Amino acid sequence: AKKIGVLTGGGDCPGLNAVIRGIVRKGVQEYDYDFTGFRDGWRGPLEGDTVPLDIPAVRGILPRGGTILGSSRTNPFKEENGIRRIKENLAKYEIDSLIAIGGEDTLGVAARLTDEYGIPVVGVPKTIDNDLSATDYTFGFDTAVGIATEAIDRLHTTAESHMRVLVVEVMGRHAGWIALHSGLAGGANVILIPEQRFDVEQVCAWVTSRFKASYAPIVVVAEGAMPKDGDMVLKDQSLDSFGHVRLSGVGEWLAKEIEKRTGKEARTTVLGHVQRGGTPSAFDRWLATRFGLHAIEAVRDGDFGKMVALRGTDIVRVPIAEATAKLKTVDPELYKEVGVFFG
Ligand code: F6P
Repeated sequence: AKKIGVLTGGGDCPGLNAVIRGIVRKGVQEYDYDFTGFRDGWRGPLEGDTVPLDIPAVRGILPRGGTILGSSRTNPFKEENGIRRIKENLAKYEIDSLIAIGGEDTLGVAARLTDEYGIPVVGVPKTIDNDLSATDYTFGFDTAVGIATEAIDRLHTTAESHMRVLVVEVMGRHAGWIALHSGLAGGANVILIPEQRFDVEQVCAWVTSRFKASYAPIVVVAEGAMPKDGDMVLKDQSLDSFGHVRLSGVGEWLAKEIEKRTGKEARTTVLGHVQRGGTPSAFDRWLATRFGLHAIEAVRDGDFGKMVALRGTDIVRVPIAEATAKLKTVDPELYKEVGVFFG
């Protein structure tokens, strides 16, 4: 029987286990394929670190967050003899093809392995940020928006009890999708996104007008949002000891500026990885499962170098290289539309 390797790379995301389950259930039941799980993204095939992946292994994982395969940001192109080692391990474990579930980096590696080295890989897109262009939605996004919306709902009541400003910092370095969707759903009074630099004076004007109407303002800010030039250099984009970029906390900075400029008390809540943890929403389970089922179809058809994607309500296949070429960011017109609720 055909043997397929499966891996999950990059930041984890609710729904990864649903994809894995979809792949294994359909692959075993319909096509009698065998599976091998590789641990921690590309580190698995690089180091030959495997885990058994069969029907019992995927039992009960549908509602569980995270990934049973583990994840990492290892990039074989940055490792010594990376590609040769991957080829050797794929031969050792008799792997016919790979399914790589991941974001830009993981899929970028997948595209190069297929296009440049003839290693057959099918991609499944993943990011809570929803900023991959080739697909209408990625799984994990709906869950993250749900968590952020619930947080905003809760913050409203405590903000109103104390008549304070509450700043909520949500994830999104390059795209403001989580901020925009949760901010609209949670009835935020200001939403700030990375795509458009914000004017602190304008934010303070909205905050003040909200207080004048006898309500406490909620400001939702994406972690990658930045003030206009001249306001302050707040992005200390330092690398941590793992070489990952760390942003420096726009939420805290903004709350202090609001206090200084409006004389109102402000507090910050940074939602952070809470947005990525725990059980996936029903929509994300649905989307992730369908991605898994369609990834197996792509393997069966020998359609490598492709990624499954959602277009409307259909799952389609697109070249991975096309999907990773450009980030999907918030259109200024859409941001303007939501802006009617500011202030
Ligand atoms: O891309 C997903 C994401 O959660 C971003 O929204 C966030 O900026 C980043 O990953 C955090 O990465 P890490 O896992 O290194 O903390």
